[in-house]
Amino acid sequence: MFNYSFGVGVYYFMGLYRAKILGTGLYYPQKVVTNDDLARSIDTSDQWITERTGIKKRRISSTDGGEFPTDMAMNAAFIALKNANLSANDINCIIFATFTPDYRLPNCATILQTKLGITNGCAAMDIAAACSGFLYGLNTANAFIQTGMMKNILVIGSEMLSREVDWSDRGTCILFGDGCGVALVGRNEDANDSSEILATKLGADGSGRDFLYQTYGGSVNPITPEIAASRERYLTMNGKEMFKVAVRTLAEISLSAVEAAGLKGIDEIDWFIPHQANHRILEATADRLSIDPKKVIINIEDYANTSAATIPTAFHQAVSDGRIKRGQLLLFSAFGGGLTSASTVLRY
Ligand code: UT7
Repeated sequence: MFNYSFGVGVYYFMGLYRAKILGTGLYYPQKVVTNDDLARSIDTSDQWITERTGIKKRRISSTDGGEFPTDMAMNAAFIALKNANLSANDINCIIFATFTPDYRLPNCATILQTKLGITNGCAAMDIAAACSGFLYGLNTANAFIQTGMMKNILVIGSEMLSREVDWSDRGTCILFGDGCGVALVGRNEDANDSSEILATKLGADGSGRDFLYQTYGGSVNPITPEIAASRERYLTMNGKEMFKVAVRTLAEISLSAVEAAGLKGIDEIDWFIPHQANHRILEATADRLSIDPKKVIINIEDYANTSAATIPTAFHQAVSDGRIKRGQLLLFSAFGGGLTSASTVLRY
């Protein structure tokens, strides 16, 4: 009944049940910060940021409350529940991907459980896989559903990167924004419904950990008063190395997911939703994959890189505006700090 085949850091599993996306949702903070706004405080320009990244603006969470990662997730989850025609207590498990959690403890998933009014005692866990976090969550949800262990799982990518970015470092701050996207994943028991997660790939290459990291704030280097007052506590990135790794990894993991899904080729994919890191990365990846650029869903211009939130937000937008339709084949691919990577092929 079960077929397993293990590769390096990836797996393929034919389960008892099929999993499908039941509904999606998103939340973006109210505050818009344009490139021109940034150019008023750092040595940059709208022209440089637009040409090098494709980004024009980003959303930034309020620090007064109401837009922290679990707040954004609550708003997005209620939209997804409505779209899926489910109530909060139908959720068996919350998988919350973030590297900017509300607190170190408790995790975001349990905070969200309370905010959604869930009283069924469902499982609630966080995933730390940086920008690949949402797909790590989606692929984990798929496995839980395939085995019959869970029925309805809420998968979240929610980030408040504005707290972790050095706003005086023009090499990083121009790239990032805040936001949240969610997907409700559930068991598909209707033999006439072709919607299904077809293949998942997960990977990582820890040797690239120095390309994107935060030295302070963990057990090794707690944040002391001196560090809190300095710029050292913020995220550090080697943009050039990340760029090269991104294009190579996105292309490789995408092709391996397409192959695992049993497709004849990437031409069969209707829509490609990659992690939105830089417009040039997306162009180069599409080129390497020989996928029609018109099939690539891009929202980086208005929202920048929101880490684990880029794929579920772009997905929700394309579903909501009618580009993505039921029955179409979708490819999601991500890479991120760590270096983590993940890909999913599904029939929506
Ligand atoms: O979620 C995944 C994590 N991150 C990524 O995937 C990031 C991938 N990398 C990138 O997107 C790009 O490397 C960046 C957008 C971060 C940088 O673009 P780049 O084309 O690699 O620029 P660079 O760092 O090589 O800098 C080129 C020049 C430098 O000046 P000189 O040395 O040539 O005089 C920089 O000082 O541009 C300068 N520069 C800027 N100028 C204006 C760097 N940042 C800026 C800026 N505005 N914001």
